[in-house]
Amino acid sequence: MRALTALLVGPTVTLAAAIAPRWYPAPEGPWTAGVWRVPATDDVFFLGEAINASGGKFYVNKNTSSYCPGNVENLDCSAYPGSRTIFTGGNNTVFLDVGVPGGQQANAKRIVYIAEDGSLSYTIPHSGAIPDGAVATGFDRVISESFGAPVVLGHSGQFWLMCPVSEGEPRERTYQIYVGKGTENCLNTGVRTYTATGPDAWEYM
Ligand SMILES: *[C@@H]1O[C@H](CO)[C@@H](O)[C@H](O)[C@H]1NC(C)=O
Ligand SMILES: *[C@@H]1O[C@H](CO)[C@@H](O)[C@H](O)[C@H]1NC(C)=O
Ligand SMILES: *[C@@H]1O[C@H](CO)[C@@H](O)[C@H](O)[C@H]1NC(C)=O
Repeated sequence: MRALTALLVGPTVTLAAAIAPRWYPAPEGPWTAGVWRVPATDDVFFLGEAINASGGKFYVNKNTSSYCPGNVENLDCSAYPGSRTIFTGGNNTVFLDVGVPGGQQANAKRIVYIAEDGSLSYTIPHSGAIPDGAVATGFDRVISESFGAPVVLGHSGQFWLMCPVSEGEPRERTYQIYVGKGTENCLNTGVRTYTATGPDAWEYM
């Protein structure tokens, strides 16, 4: 899978593009993201299991954490179930798609970034602040011409990692998503994205 990841999102892409177009930028969304792992040396497969937002970070095998305030006039929270994690963007920058007014303004957007420790993260509501050492640019989302035209999320050719944060069977435990570097016993993975409808959540938390 390391070789495959490098082929899809690594420097090889740049080289291939110079020879013949082998991939195309994808529309800006909305979309969901899932881990794609078809390993050669073990049997821990993941075929698009959702990457969900919770507490400022992203996980697999964990529910999305969202809210909708019950006390806002004319706000129908039934329109915002908030169980799905919906993204937008993918051309250099990535955001979470939220229903809250001003969600598309700079200081209200949930900006997705890579923290200094490699953890994929998002900004808290009403703050566009990115911590020191974090990187919020350099994402790419491209339609690959290979293997059924998956839409692949990348970041500057770096490896994506699933790092376990719970005990359990390899397919069932909870993993946190990291880019470039992770914690211990991480699995390398690809990330694919899927066209979705959004927003699904009023706010992620
Ligand atoms: C990506 O962003 C660049 C720079 O803003 C722009 O020129 C390009 O058209 C964008 N591509 C897509 C597919 O939106
Ligand atoms: C996760 O979400 C599902 C569907 O909304 C729900 O049935 C389940 O209880 C949730 N799990 C946890 C641990 O909250
Ligand atoms: C995560 O998000 C997906 C889709 O966005 C949703 O179907 C699922 O119930 C959520 N929870 C878990 C544990 O995957």
